Amino acid sequence: MKRGNQPWWKKTVVYQVYPRSFKDSTGNGIGDIPGIISKLDYLADLGIETIWFSPFFDSPQEDFGYDIRNYRAIAPEYGTLQDCEALINEIHARDMRIVFDMVLNHTSDQHPWFLASKSSKNDPKRGWYVWHDGRKPGGKKPPNNWKSMITGSGWHYHEPTDQWYWAQFLPFQPDLNYRNPEVRGEMLDTMKFWLSKGADGFRLDIINAIYEDDEFRDNPRSWRLLPSEESPAMLFTNPKYTLNHPDTLAFMRVLRDAIDTFDDPSRFMVGEVSAPLPILKQYMGESGDGLNLTFQFQSLSLKMRAKAVRGLLEDYEEWFPAPLIPTWVFSNHDRFRRISRIGGGILQAKLNAALQLTARGVPFIYYGEEVGMEQHHLPVKYSKDPVALKFKHIPQFIFNIARKIAKESINRDECRTPMQWNASENGGFCPAGVDPWLPMTPSYRERNVAVQENEPDSLLNCYKRFLHARKIMPPLHAGDMTIDTSDAYPSHVVHFIRECRETGGRVDVFLNFSGNDLDLNFPVPLKEIVVSTRIPAEGAIGNGIKLTPWEGIVVQLQR
Ligand code: NOJ
Repeated sequence: MKRGNQPWWKKTVVYQVYPRSFKDSTGNGIGDIPGIISKLDYLADLGIETIWFSPFFDSPQEDFGYDIRNYRAIAPEYGTLQDCEALINEIHARDMRIVFDMVLNHTSDQHPWFLASKSSKNDPKRGWYVWHDGRKPGGKKPPNNWKSMITGSGWHYHEPTDQWYWAQFLPFQPDLNYRNPEVRGEMLDTMKFWLSKGADGFRLDIINAIYEDDEFRDNPRSWRLLPSEESPAMLFTNPKYTLNHPDTLAFMRVLRDAIDTFDDPSRFMVGEVSAPLPILKQYMGESGDGLNLTFQFQSLSLKMRAKAVRGLLEDYEEWFPAPLIPTWVFSNHDRFRRISRIGGGILQAKLNAALQLTARGVPFIYYGEEVGMEQHHLPVKYSKDPVALKFKHIPQFIFNIARKIAKESINRDECRTPMQWNASENGGFCPAGVDPWLPMTPSYRERNVAVQENEPDSLLNCYKRFLHARKIMPPLHAGDMTIDTSDAYPSHVVHFIRECRETGGRVDVFLNFSGNDLDLNFPVPLKEIVVSTRIPAEGAIGNGIKLTPWEGIVVQLQR
C-alpha cells in the first residue's frame, strides 16, 4: 500500500524502553541490552516502529543514567559498545528505528570534564560548566535566587575553589556551559557519533534548561508554590532566566541543522519540555526549523471525559497544525502510570489506547502500558529514586494524600518496576530467586504478556489491532484530522475524521467516554468496521451502530 511521502517520523509509533527494567539476561536483577535484544521480536510483532531507550551510557547511576560519565561508552551493567551496535543492527534488521536519549544539559559530577573543571579555577575545563562567585560580601551565599527544578537553590558551593556551580536538576548533575563553543562543539560531535552508529533520532532531556541568563539576574517572584504543565513557576519564583531562554530556543535550530545535514536528512528530535502549548510551539522554530517534535505533557492528566478530550484535540490542532505534528504521551519513567491515573480499568485503558493511536500525532507508548502495568505504591523512605530521597524526611501519609488526590507520586520507582512478561516469580524479567532491582507490581500475575497474548480480548491484543490498523491505513498514520463539534452524536462521544489527501482514504473515529451503551446514527450507510476496542467488533444496525461502554471504534462509511 502507498505510504505517502511524509517523513517516516511523522507516521511512526514510538515505544519507550527503560533499559534497567525491561529484561535481565544475566540474572543480576537489572535489565540489560542483550535482554532487550531478546525481546525485539515481541516489539516488532506488537507493531512498534521506533524504540526510544532511556540512557544506557556509562554513569554512576545516581539518577539511573540521566547522570552521564561518558557519552560514548555503555554502562557495564547494561552491556558493551558491541552489544549496543548489535542492538542497533537488530532493530534495523526488523525495519524498526532507534532513538537515543541525549542528556545535553548536564553531566554526572563524576564525569572527567567536571572533575577537571572543579580541580582549579585555571583548569582548561573550568569554563565547561556554569561557575560563579557567591553574593558579596563574603561570597558565602549563592550568586542569585535561581532555583533548581527539584528543591531550593540550584547553586552548590565548592569550597576548594570558593565558587558556586549551577545544577538545574540534582546537585550531582552540574549544568554544562553552552556559552562555551568547545562545549557546543563536543556535544554536537557526540550526537554525530551516535548518528554515525545508526541512531535515527534523539529524545532531548530537559532541553528547556540549556541556557541561563548571561548576566545572572535574579528570577522574578511568583505566587506559585508548585509547578504545572501550564506554568513552570515554583517555590515562589518564575524561572524567566533559567528556562526557555531565547538562546535555548535559538540553539534548537543549531541542533536541527546538525541532524539534517548529517548524511541522511530523515532523522528526528523530540524535546522534553514541560510548558504550555504556545511555548512548546516556539521549540519547533518559527519556520519549522527547530525541533521536529516536543512532548505535550498536557495529555498526562487528561480526564476521561469527552469534553476534555475534544478540548485537548482542538488545542493541539490549533497550536500544531500540519505540517507540524503533536505527540501523544500518557506515561513515562517520571510520571504516574496512565492506567492507575484513570482508575485501573482495562476498558478505559483500551479506549485511551484507541485515542492515542487514532488521533493525529506521534504516539509514545511507555513499556508495559500495553499490558496495563500499574503504578506500584512504594514508600518514599526506601526509594532508589534520588528525587524521592530528597523528600524522605516528610511523613509518608502526606505523599499518600497527594497520591490519592492528585494522582502524582514523588517516588519515580513506582512507575519503573520490571516489565511483566509472564506470571512466574519475577514475571520473567529476571530468574526466580533473584531480587529484581525494584519489586514487581503485584498485579503482574494477571497483567503480563504471556497471559494476554492468549486472550483475544486482552488489552495487549487491543493495542496490536489498533497498531496494525494504523500501520496499514494512511488516513490513520498520515491523514488530516477534523474534529466534529456538531451535536450529531451523543455528547459523551468524541468523533473525528481522518482523511489522507495524499493517498486518498477516509475513516471516522468514535470514542465512547461513558459507561453506557450509546447509539450512533450515521448519515450514510456503514461500509466497514475497521477496528474496535472490543471483539468481535459488531453492533451495526441499519445506518447506525451501538457503542458499548468505553468502546472506541474506527469505521468506514459509504461516501
Ligand atoms: C528528565 C528525565 O526524564 C528524568 O528522569 C531525569 O531525572 C531528569 N530529566 C534529569 O536528567
